[in-house]
Amino acid sequence: MLIAVLNGPNLNLLGQREPEVYGRTTLDEIEAMVRDAATAHGADIEWFQTNHEGGLVDAVQGLRGRVDGALVNAAALTHSSLALRDAMLAVRVPFVELHLSNIFAREAERRHSVIADLALGLVTGFGAQSYLLALQALVGRLRAG
Ligand code: DQA
Repeated sequence: MLIAVLNGPNLNLLGQREPEVYGRTTLDEIEAMVRDAATAHGADIEWFQTNHEGGLVDAVQGLRGRVDGALVNAAALTHSSLALRDAMLAVRVPFVELHLSNIFAREAERRHSVIADLALGLVTGFGAQSYLLALQALVGRLRAG
């Protein structure tokens, strides 16, 4: 089972960036945690981060027919990018949306996601653990068929 993990803008700065909101774990550390957990689930991980909307759209388009599912933390693009939504609609890869912070407990602009209705489900608010919870949920759904 191959699972892509897509990370959007500014997530490369995790660990230094607003630690009171996003925690002190770096993206490299999260990647290592996710890879370990995936191995335990018998899954392989393809890891991706970009600060660019077009880069994220290209990455989503590249999922089609190649991966079994995806974990998506589109960061700020979650709230604004119709191009991301259109790409998700085009590829129709099963995915779980995730966020470190609880986007529903934040500013009004962050309480809306342009991709949430396309996702299998959302995990939001558990810091780095959100990635592991999302992985567990996605693998469970994919295995259930
Ligand atoms: C985020 C939440 C977004 O609102 C924000 O723009 C991010 C990170 C999160 O993981 O909590 O960059 O997706």
